[in-house]
Amino acid sequence: MSGIIPQETVEQVRTATDIVEIIGQFVRLKKRGRNFTALCPFHAEKTPSFSVSPERQIFHCFGCGKGGNVFTFLMEHEKMSFVETVRHLAQKAGIRIVEKKGDDRSREEIEKLHYAQVVAREYFRQTLYADKYREPVLRYLHEKRRLTDQAVEFFQIGLAGEEWDGFLNYALKKDLFLPELIQAGLIIHSEKHDKYFDRFRQRLMIPIFNLSDRPIAFGGRALKSGEPAKYVNSPETPLYSKSNVLYGLNFTRQSIREKNEVIIVEGYFDLISLYQAGLKNVVASSGTAFTPAQARLLARFADTAFLFFDSDSAGQNAALRSIDALYDAGLEVKVMIPPPGDDPDSLTKREGLEGLMRIYGGARTFLQFRTEGIDIKQSGLIAKEKLIKELAELAAKINDPTRRELFLNEASERLGLSRDLFRSAAGGKSSPTRKIPDIKPPKKIAEIERDLLALVMRYPEHLEAVRQKLHFEDFQEESWRKIFSVMLTLITQYETISESALIDLLDDTELKIKITSLAALDFPVTDPALMIKDHVNLLLKFKLERIIDTRKAELKVAEEKGDSDKARELEAEILDLIKRREN
Ligand code: UTP
Ligand code: MN
Repeated sequence: MSGIIPQETVEQVRTATDIVEIIGQFVRLKKRGRNFTALCPFHAEKTPSFSVSPERQIFHCFGCGKGGNVFTFLMEHEKMSFVETVRHLAQKAGIRIVEKKGDDRSREEIEKLHYAQVVAREYFRQTLYADKYREPVLRYLHEKRRLTDQAVEFFQIGLAGEEWDGFLNYALKKDLFLPELIQAGLIIHSEKHDKYFDRFRQRLMIPIFNLSDRPIAFGGRALKSGEPAKYVNSPETPLYSKSNVLYGLNFTRQSIREKNEVIIVEGYFDLISLYQAGLKNVVASSGTAFTPAQARLLARFADTAFLFFDSDSAGQNAALRSIDALYDAGLEVKVMIPPPGDDPDSLTKREGLEGLMRIYGGARTFLQFRTEGIDIKQSGLIAKEKLIKELAELAAKINDPTRRELFLNEASERLGLSRDLFRSAAGGKSSPTRKIPDIKPPKKIAEIERDLLALVMRYPEHLEAVRQKLHFEDFQEESWRKIFSVMLTLITQYETISESALIDLLDDTELKIKITSLAALDFPVTDPALMIKDHVNLLLKFKLERIIDTRKAELKVAEEKGDSDKARELEAEILDLIKRREN
């Protein structure tokens, strides 16, 4: 086969693959804090300096400098080609590779898919307000859902009508064609009847947005109860990867950041309801188990996550299943439990903001939640052991040593069990993650550039702000300049950047290594926005200085030539530049 593996398939394979599991087949990995370490398979050594990060899905050797993602590991270690590697891992993950002829997915294609989502949203909104539907559906939204017109507007809720091909016909008139409509997940092909029809029919349509506020998918809620599927959702598309998206975050991230707390609910309507009531620091998990990617996304905006799931056992179990990922991402976890029989939505409908604030204020720490009602003296040895293990494992995920100790203290106090039990369950003392202590002022330009990129990588939501101030050509160090330009490409195409994706886009091994060394830079950050701004300003200052130097050189030439007009002009400009530098 000579085709090209589409970039989104590569992405899909990478997301479906766990680097720890793959590398673990070749190397004996030992857990150390958040990472795994081993003796480096690429050079001879006696003490382990090879480190694998499950969170970032990359490896890095502090000894020989080798590093990369799961693909580069197999390529280096097994001497496989890139395509072989992707095929091999795709097979393992059960992903079918459909190779494309010719070029990679172009920007245009992605834009087409975005356009299809916009057209669909407009269509669903028009349908909601069409004579035929407006009255009953708005009545349903007002009375049953207790939604105001403003909320319907704000969340851009629409309606899929009863026709089989209403959207299809509309879209065809808007310059959209079958292949992209199918790829966008909006139109389905029936093999049996060889017919094309709308995926969504007779449903309330809730658009799902990315962080740039562009619609990328839909959740479709059945209008009547007793339908076989309460929700029909968009499938995974090049725009929409369910495990990476949190419903509502585009609307709520500001509030989340301000409060430094995020409330996680399950349903779209839970979120809409809370938001309407005035509690705005919310995201919805959309009913799936919380993924590590979602947890990491949240960790960029807040330090504490409040799980606010349905009071039924399904909801409470889902809460328990989400804990791991949240702790892994470094979030403090609290639990809000609605009254029996309620979910956040129904509680809000009945008791409004007041009821919500009562539950918010009464949130329990995860340890309270997990140990409440357990009489440890009454439980058997196996149950005891299980609980101790579970808590010790969670504790091991807490990166901050003080917080970890406090967690273990509290656990042992609550259960009336000795600290040593937890310690031995955790497999001895867990050590904090390795930090590279090489950030010391005064920094050279290349170091500032490097640290800025490391910061942007960790807090990609600030990339846009950096882009507005710095051109990639403002970077002095060639490798950082290249990496920055690839970051810009990635963010425009996928609206997100990750070490792993960067590594794939760069063909230069040196640069790949640089990326992993960037990711491994682990300096303390309290206010990323401010720190990034400082770095940008420093670089702008250096840029000014370079301009001043050039002008001074030009001035010298002008003076030598006796061109006094030119010299005066340059002098004025230099003075101006110096003034700007001092500000
Ligand atoms: P719920 O069943 O709790 O739905 O599922 P809900 O949002 O509270 O809906 P209402 O209030 O009864 O209308 C929680 C979330 O799980 C996903 C949806 O994202 C939903 O919001 N879900 C649920 C599905 O994707 N498919 C389903 O069939 C059910
Ligand atoms: Mn619900």
